[in-house]
Amino acid sequence: MRMSIFSGSASKELAGKIAKDLGLELSPVEIFVFPDGEKRIRIKENVVGKDCIIVQSASIPPDENYMELFIMIDALKRSGAKSIRTVIPYLGYQRQDHIFRDGEAVSLEVIAEILTRVGMTELFSFDLHSPKIPDIFSVPVHHLSALPIFAEKIKQDFNLQEIVLVSPDMGGIRRIKEVAEMLNNIPFATIEKNRDLASGKINDANLNGDVRGKIAIIVDDMISTGQTMAEAAELLLENGATKMVAFATHAVLAKDSGKLLQHSSIERVVVSDTIDVPAYNLFPKLEIVSIVEVAAKALEVGS
Ligand code: R5P
Repeated sequence: MRMSIFSGSASKELAGKIAKDLGLELSPVEIFVFPDGEKRIRIKENVVGKDCIIVQSASIPPDENYMELFIMIDALKRSGAKSIRTVIPYLGYQRQDHIFRDGEAVSLEVIAEILTRVGMTELFSFDLHSPKIPDIFSVPVHHLSALPIFAEKIKQDFNLQEIVLVSPDMGGIRRIKEVAEMLNNIPFATIEKNRDLASGKINDANLNGDVRGKIAIIVDDMISTGQTMAEAAELLLENGATKMVAFATHAVLAKDSGKLLQHSSIERVVVSDTIDVPAYNLFPKLEIVSIVEVAAKALEVGS
């Protein structure tokens, strides 16, 4: 077998499923945590001359998960791996891909620099916040998407005549247009939201487009605090939408976002499994669809 697949601690469930789809088993890696929190990684398989894959989302806690990933890549490189293809289904720090205010770092560039320096040879990721993000990396980036899976689910679960797609912010227009195209160009509306750059809080939001009498399907790249989705739903309700359903690729689910969404006017929250959702973050309105086949197919094509 010339290909080995490893999982970081953040993505055991997803990595196991991708491995199965590829007809492989997860390869053994020892992740030892010292009392002070430092980690020691040891690859427990002969990887000399092999194409190696690591699956690790930069989900919560992102710094810890990235650090573990950097060290795993280094361990594979030092163990003689031929290539190290890295699947970071949710690329943490991607919202910091440029300078918003004087004095800020471009944090995503720092992450990209470390990943490539330590030995990542290719990156596979899903629904990046901006289509320009691949340009930051000096290795090939495979920008995969959960949107076709969402479009299929929307087709199955709804009558297209009864729905309107909604982008909860102007940054999501490209995304909403793509989904609309996949659904025979059904209509879409957009919300213009203004955030306080220091606190991240949403100051105000305005709706462009008609949602009256329709089921509003809000599509976003990620749910972090849940504030964007919950506030979009309120605005849509005020503007006459009959029901609100949320779709988002990455279930980052920070802090009490699950509670917020469960108690919001949103009827269902559909996410993908780019992030393994821990049991404490599951809530009754949450539905999870899988990107496993998309990831496995991309890895097979590239091998
Ligand atoms: C923002 O530009 C993103 O597309 C998401 O709308 C945002 O990151 C979601 O964050 P939250 O759930 O904290 O409102």
